[in-house]
Amino acid sequence: MNKTTKLISLALCVIMAAMLFVGCGNQQSALERIKESGELVMLTNAAFPPFEYLGNDNAVAGVDVEIAHAIADEIGVSLKIVDMDFDGIVTSIQSGKGDIGAAGMTANDERRKSVDFSINYVDAAQLIIVMKDNAEITTPEDLAGKNVGVQSGTTGDIFVSDETDAVPFRFKNGADAAVELTNGKLDAVVIDEMPANLIVSTYEGLKIIDTPLTEEQYAIAIAKGNDDLKEIIDGVITKLLESGQIDAWIEEHKLASGS
Ligand code: ARG
Repeated sequence: MNKTTKLISLALCVIMAAMLFVGCGNQQSALERIKESGELVMLTNAAFPPFEYLGNDNAVAGVDVEIAHAIADEIGVSLKIVDMDFDGIVTSIQSGKGDIGAAGMTANDERRKSVDFSINYVDAAQLIIVMKDNAEITTPEDLAGKNVGVQSGTTGDIFVSDETDAVPFRFKNGADAAVELTNGKLDAVVIDEMPANLIVSTYEGLKIIDTPLTEEQYAIAIAKGNDDLKEIIDGVITKLLESGQIDAWIEEHKLASGS
């Protein structure tokens, strides 16, 4: 080895050691970060009653908030809620902008490529909402060629876009879509069952078509590879399911949100 090669290999060694060091620094797990910061950060979209909605004093309330509080209590930290667009939650969890995505979020294979999910805590389905006097739309096939409102990035959006020949109109939330339906700008809205019930009880002249379009389960999203955090969340959800607490919260928040 001449002097230059020696210098180069030395430099390479230093760089590699530095990379290892930085690599280790980033290895802090989500759970360690939560404990260190004293805060569990929940990402949600608070336009989805009874799971999340703006309650008293415009604070985010709902079933998912209750579950997230139970998780934060179990870890021994406080809960911070970030209200954002639904279609940004998965990537924000992936990039570490939050610790849990709790948003009536359906655990599906597409999302599993980017995040891990807790065990399921609610069974759900997509339903069609139309005007009461609409006799034309009674099955998903009838949606072909129709203008159908969905919440952007949701499983309702995916169903309408991939499984029907309808023209999807994407909204930031279900309520905005409902307004356009009552205005006659849309022929139908496709959305999860429980928010659908709230929409129909809030806006005059709408009805739900009873045939479920999908079978889905809600779960909490976390960054991949955080088995310690997942274990805690799964433990909390198991207890809440066994005691009937989640059902009780659903009833409580249906009343509180008017659904
Ligand atoms: N369950 C549906 C999905 O995962 C809709 C969820 C919408 N949630 C919300 N907080 N806006 O795509």
